[in-house]
Amino acid sequence: MCRPDHFGIYYEINPWMDRGRQADRTVALGQWEALYQLLVNTLRIQVELLPSVPGLPDLCFTANAGVFVDNLFVSSRFRYREREAEVPYYTQWFLERNYRVVCLPEPVLFEGEGDALFYEDCLFAGYRFRSELQAHHLLAELLGLPVHSLELTDPWFYHLDTCLCPLQQGQAAYYPEAFSPASQRLLKEAIPELFPVTEAEARRFVCNAIVVGQAVVMNADCPHLSRTLVEAGYRVYEVGTTEFLKAGGGPKCLALFLDRGTT
Ligand code: ARG
Repeated sequence: MCRPDHFGIYYEINPWMDRGRQADRTVALGQWEALYQLLVNTLRIQVELLPSVPGLPDLCFTANAGVFVDNLFVSSRFRYREREAEVPYYTQWFLERNYRVVCLPEPVLFEGEGDALFYEDCLFAGYRFRSELQAHHLLAELLGLPVHSLELTDPWFYHLDTCLCPLQQGQAAYYPEAFSPASQRLLKEAIPELFPVTEAEARRFVCNAIVVGQAVVMNADCPHLSRTLVEAGYRVYEVGTTEFLKAGGGPKCLALFLDRGTT
């Protein structure tokens, strides 16, 4: 994770971002701190911190740094130069800790866990607004995993982690309308139990949740999915990320998995 010391809406690269609707940095810091404390103290997750950097307001969305399998880190190539400037900081962090870092060949675009979600032994990968389909083929080869490509169709749900949330035991939550009809069918075939979320909750980024075993850390004010998950046996922890939503982010975007073991 990366503390949002320099967070704010200073450019507009997705429909959520509007420089006229500034995020309150003090509130954002409080929301981030509450999420961090929940992960560390309540869920006992070990959280590593990347130092924040002035001039990189979206660096706090570490999920976009890349994607991780064992000791191999596949680093992102961002669509927009504003975010591409973050790459050297992520790379340096991983290299200093002796991870193996690879990047996809130029000019293939790929935005890390934002568009790549693990589900059982495969990877679901999103494309169209940020990552490219070509990246998925390369990822499958590099990681040695089956990759299911999903086409995103709604610019408000521009990353896969804004509209799909893989859970445990053959289950996932998703916002069907954010996917092409073929990708909706693919999800239905691949995942035995899908929980569709309402448009109102999708727009509160309910799918952008951190799932660790049976624990789900998700945005507050999403009673429908919260109830469904509790009934299905999950432990739901609610957090507020309203300031980050103004940048098009939520809880899941604020953390990158270094190890997907369950607790
Ligand atoms: N403002 C950032 C962007 O548009 C938000 C990134 C959200 N991250 C995510 N994993 N969905 O790139």
